[in-house]
Amino acid sequence: MPDLYPLARLFLFALDAEKAHHVTLSMMRAADATGLLGCLTGSGATGSSAAPDPLHSGVEVMGLRFPNRVGLAAGLDKTGSAVHAFGEIGFGHVEIGTVTPRPQPGNPKPRLFRLKEHQAIINRMGFNNPGVEGMLVNLSYSRKDFRGILGINIGKNFDTPNEEATRDYLLGLEEVYGAADYITANLSSPNTKGLRDLQNAETCRELILKLQEKREEVKPDHGGKHVPLVIKIAPDLSDEAIGALAKVFSETRIDGVITTNTTISRDAVAGHPLANEAGGLSGAPLTKTSTAVLARLRSELDPAIPVIGSGGVMSAADAQAKLDAGAALVQVYTGLVYRGPRLVREIAALA
Ligand SMILES: Cc1cc2nc3c(=O)[nH]c(=O)nc-3n(C[C@H](O)[C@H](O)[C@H](O)COP(=O)(O)O)c2cc1C
Repeated sequence: MPDLYPLARLFLFALDAEKAHHVTLSMMRAADATGLLGCLTGSGATGSSAAPDPLHSGVEVMGLRFPNRVGLAAGLDKTGSAVHAFGEIGFGHVEIGTVTPRPQPGNPKPRLFRLKEHQAIINRMGFNNPGVEGMLVNLSYSRKDFRGILGINIGKNFDTPNEEATRDYLLGLEEVYGAADYITANLSSPNTKGLRDLQNAETCRELILKLQEKREEVKPDHGGKHVPLVIKIAPDLSDEAIGALAKVFSETRIDGVITTNTTISRDAVAGHPLANEAGGLSGAPLTKTSTAVLARLRSELDPAIPVIGSGGVMSAADAQAKLDAGAALVQVYTGLVYRGPRLVREIAALA
């Protein structure tokens, strides 16, 4: 099957980046509804998305069975409206959100920029999302028979002051608990004022303890189901801050950590006409930094706690480097924009 993505990309890259995003999701949903998506993208799935590949026995992480090691990073399916479709193109797990308790429109447009020369994106979307309730409605249609692992990424509303942020995370956890296989608390988006301050070790410890307490409280309403809790951190942390967080994660026995979100650094794209756009930078310029943060955290973290590598996975070799640095799973966002579904298949084939 020829790779049709380079052709599709020509068309998509002629559009404004955010428009291209919506067109892509609409096309994926339409192709999925006809049952053709797996064939068109060459993943060959037949209506049983993320079905275990007979060549890949899957991998157990956080007590969950992942069909392969590659997942969709948060932010691409913010609304939870294309879960089955992403499973059809080969993702073993799909992380939807970030979702906030109340719907919010996000930042003014334009807020999404391609830096093609660097295979990179800058975004300052600002958690545009339909709110937890809206997302759960979308999910009731989009999940269908998705057999991969569903992560739900939660955050706080932009107008919730940091002192009250915990309330938003607890609300999010409570609302999505029944639907999620795992829940990620996003403490690292650069586009919500003050959010990354929640990565302060003591603040983070308190938040984790409260989330764990809430989990125990809601478990009986869900037949005792245990949903792993994951924290997503930024790449722009000092070694000391990573060390302090590793201690908190180990002591609280968090279930998993995602390294990393986008970076606010522009060193790797200095001089590019779009380099000074505010927001988070993702893609190839982030590969090395995020893998270094992963390795650093891994070296200080309790070995029993898995790390999920996100940031600049643009090739199977990049994914392998993250696995070699100690990641149990990897996630992709910007790589999918530049390389298309073939990248997913290449990573899914890794042992
Ligand atoms: C347009 C865009 C929106 C994003 N939105 C979110 C988000 O809502 N929540 C989140 O945790 N991460 C979000 N991310 C970060 C990605 O999940 C990922 O961690 C980051 O982009 C690094 O991976 P990549 O280089 O493969 O893109 C977003 C990234 C992009 C490019």
